[in-house]
Formats: sequence, C-alpha cells, structure tokens
Amino acid sequence: MTTTLGLIGAGMIGTTVARLAVAAGLDVVLSNSRGPETLADLVADLGERARAGTPADAARDGELVVAAIPLNGYRLLPAAALAGKTVIDTMNYYPQRDGHIPELDSNELTSSELVQQHLADSRVVKAFNNIVSFSLGKLARPAGDPDRSALPVAGDDTVAKAQVAALLDTLGYDTVDFGALADSWRSEPTTPVYVQPYFAGQAPKGLDPEEEYRWHVTNPGVAVPADQIRKLTESAVRGTAGGYLPGLETA
Ligand SMILES: NC(=O)c1ccc[n+]([C@@H]2O[C@H](COP(=O)([O-])OP(=O)(O)OC[C@H]3O[C@@H](n4cnc5c(N)ncnc54)[C@H](OP(=O)(O)O)[C@@H]3O)[C@@H](O)[C@H]2O)c1
Repeated sequence: MTTTLGLIGAGMIGTTVARLAVAAGLDVVLSNSRGPETLADLVADLGERARAGTPADAARDGELVVAAIPLNGYRLLPAAALAGKTVIDTMNYYPQRDGHIPELDSNELTSSELVQQHLADSRVVKAFNNIVSFSLGKLARPAGDPDRSALPVAGDDTVAKAQVAALLDTLGYDTVDFGALADSWRSEPTTPVYVQPYFAGQAPKGLDPEEEYRWHVTNPGVAVPADQIRKLTESAVRGTAGGYLPGLETA
C-alpha cells in the first residue's frame, strides 16, 4: 500500500489530492515550479504528514507520484527521478493554455501517451483528469457508502493500474479501468465522462465566466457510480482533441 504520495504541482488538483491523502493517513511531498519555500503555508495547513520539496524530491520520495501541472510543462517532469515509478497523469489538453501540440491535434497520440513518451521509464496511469478539484474534494466517500463515486483510469501497465485503484480506494473512490493510454481520449475534455456528470444539474446559460465558476464551486455535486462511469466512457466518440474554457488564459 502507498504510504507516501509525491505531488508535482500543488495547484487546484494537486492540493485537493494532497488533502484527501492526508485525511486518509498518507504522507505527502508537495512541489511546484517556484520552490518549496512558497509552499510553507499550504504545508502548515495540511499538518505534520505534509512536507515540501522540489519536483525531483517529490518524484524520489513518493511511492506513487501525481503529475498535476499544466500539460504544456510535461517535458519538465523529472524523468530520471521518476524512472521505475507509477505516475498518475491528471493533465488535460487546453490549446488556449497549452498552445497547439500537433500530435494531439491530429489524434496521433492521446495526451497521456505523450506524457508516457517523455517518462519512458515510468508507468503512466491517467486518473483524476475528468473531475474538477472541488467535486473531487466533496464526493470522496468510504468504501461501501451508497453515495460513493467512481473515477475512470487508463494505462498500459496492469500492476500500475492496480496500484492506482488501491490509492483511489484509500482516498474515497471506486475505479473503472477503461483501457490503455491509447484509449484515454475517452476521458479527455469534451467527452461524456468529463467533469459534468459529477455536478448536480447544468450551469444556467448566459452566466459570465466568474458566475459560472461560482456556480461550479458551490454545486453540491452528485455521486456517479462505477456502472455509469463505464457507460459514459464507452459512449465517447473521438473528435477534435482539447477542451475550451471561457476565461482561461490564452497561451
Ligand atoms: N483544476 C482542476 O479542477 C483540474 C481537474 C482535473 C485535471 N486538471 C488538470 O491538472 C493539471 C493541473 O491543473 P490545476 O488546475 O491544478 O493547475 P493550477 O491550479 O494552475 O496549478 C498548477 C500547479 O503546477 C505547478 N507547476 C507548473 N509547472 C510546473 C513544473 N514545471 N514543475 C512543477 N510544478 C509545476 C504550479 O506551480 P507554480 O505555481 O509554482 O508555478 C502549480 O502548483 C492541468 O493539466 C489540468 O488540466 C485540473
């Protein structure tokens, strides 16, 4: 069982995963691009199970490592320090933020295959990418709870996927394995399983980006069980890669 989780990226998704991990009794090593000292407040808030380091520290010290940075920085993930590790890829392709990546625009590769090419000696598993951080924090439930949700995972290595499923179970989620990294387009932005299923209802039309953000933050969320996640991943139809978010900074 994983006892120390490394986090590369300590923004919305990295922080939320770290909070769930600490709540579940795991140790966490957080890192970002600006240096460990900039994470002092967050570490203090998370308590004695949390510490900050460089991305290479998080990679080395984590038995399992979560990559939670904008996709445009994937080549900066410390491949040597991550060699031999299972790496959870939370990243999504947003061309307006990440710039255009030809292999993704052509659907030659999924974004996780691209990450796996960079982390050639790691086992990449796609997870946490299809749920926004505030839903992820709110919907975690213990095993057996009737309101437990599932998250989809994809990867090329069965052992690594089992390791990630065990972590998700510890953090409060069931897992649906929907295939290899080549299949992971099925949980990418704009697909049926992406983000929306975990919200109660739809945001009203005509909201400006700030109002829409608030609607999502304050939404109570809704449990999405494994059979529904499986149906949603199966119903996906491959289209143009990449998502669009109103209000997101343009690359
Ligand atoms: N937000 C969500 O709800 C959500 C949900 C699912 C998936 N995702 C995906 O997860 C990824 C992270 O999203 P986010 O919303 O958490 O982003 P965010 O809030 O903008 O945080 C990004 C984090 O990554 C760090 N970072 C950037 N470049 C880095 C590098 N080269 N090495 C180490 N750390 C680096 C940043 O550190 P500095 O601040 O020091 O630069 C920051 O801590 C994205 O690919 C996103 O599409 C997000």
